[in-house]
Amino acid sequence: MDHFLYRDGILHAEDVPLTEIAAQVGTPFYCYSVATLTRHFRLFDEALAGTDHLVCYAMKANSNMAVLKLMGDLGAGIDVVSGGEYRKAQAAGVPGERIVFSGVGKTQEEMRLALEGGIRQFNVESEPEMAALNEVALSLGVQAPIAIRVNPDVDAKTHEKIATGKSENKFGIPIARAREVYALAATLPGLKVVGVDVHIGSQLTSLEPFELAYSKVAELTQALRSDGHDIVRLDLGGGLGIPYERSNAAPPLPVEYGEMVKRVLGDLGCEIEIEPGRLIAGNAGVLVSQVIYVKNGEGRDFLILDAAMNDLVRPAMYAAHHDIVPLVEPAPGTEQAPYDIVGPVCETGDTFAKSRMMPPVAAGDLVAFRSAGAYGAVMASEYNTRPLVPEVLVSGDHVAVIRARPSFDDIINRDTIPEWL
Ligand code: LLP
Repeated sequence: MDHFLYRDGILHAEDVPLTEIAAQVGTPFYCYSVATLTRHFRLFDEALAGTDHLVCYAMKANSNMAVLKLMGDLGAGIDVVSGGEYRKAQAAGVPGERIVFSGVGKTQEEMRLALEGGIRQFNVESEPEMAALNEVALSLGVQAPIAIRVNPDVDAKTHEKIATGKSENKFGIPIARAREVYALAATLPGLKVVGVDVHIGSQLTSLEPFELAYSKVAELTQALRSDGHDIVRLDLGGGLGIPYERSNAAPPLPVEYGEMVKRVLGDLGCEIEIEPGRLIAGNAGVLVSQVIYVKNGEGRDFLILDAAMNDLVRPAMYAAHHDIVPLVEPAPGTEQAPYDIVGPVCETGDTFAKSRMMPPVAAGDLVAFRSAGAYGAVMASEYNTRPLVPEVLVSGDHVAVIRARPSFDDIINRDTIPEWL
């Protein structure tokens, strides 16, 4: 069910016309739907019904405090990858026993923060990290619960920059060495082994790579148990993709993913953790932008928007596709024309789409980038001294700015000119 629909010819977020929000907060802005965020969390939660499980929202996808509060209230766990994310999750009221700490380079300071504040489990990715965590835990007189992230050497068949489960990637411990590393972990008194962790990549559009990886995890779990380890949890990572292009075949649904998980891993009697980010937040958000100019180039027309690569970097970084639609619904049968859709930033990479078919657009028109709720605002920067765009949350007919646009004074005053200069 889509909560961003045309009603009376205007694109709405739930019950609110996006044109109204644009008039209030100016463009560009991100807008998220509570109903969609909620629905997507529940789809995963229901997909794993009947097994002991925790859906740990990967907050790297969208870490606005309001989104975290919503997830926490729904009963979600949170997957964090930095001390900053840990602090935000905690500040949003998520208890430590629902926070999982992932990431390939946790510092001792971050480990201490989480051990003192409460943590469900660390997903450990290397032997040096294991040694460091052991040391920190002993210095605090506690035991750190750990899962070891294994690298199953599986091709996730996704963009190379977001594939993580091949042996050449920096993530995890080669699965072939896992028994040896678990044996080492068992000798470290500051660690308590509780599970196995795997995450093979993001924006996966088929279940096959997941199933391959999870089968390897099932086999490993049995081997580890026979070695005497008490494996009670399996963290299966995130990665289920979303339909960015409405014209393309849709990726598998959470319910299909859940069925596969139960089939492959159900007999082990482990608690299942999953870490979805994109599927929860991606289609729960849009980026609204205004057309500044339509420029007639040589053999092509450019649509120059007030949003740029600093606001939504995915097209520049991963050649990612986002549907771009006008806020005012085109009349049925309107003829479309190709546009190169670009931002005002001074590099050619600041291109959102090439030869994209659009209904006729004029300067001043508003457009929405769809599927921009995940890895949008969180990856934004102030490149070209463009203020971070505001974020707005909608629930029914309620609207709130959940992060205000910084003023230029805020930006200028963030820097310091040394007295001696
Ligand atoms: N767990 C771990 C350990 C991860 O590294 C990630 C994503 C997730 C869970 C959540 O994956 P998801 O369900 O969102 O696919 N910036 C890129 C995506 C990077 C994903 C990094 N890790 C993009 O815009 O496509």
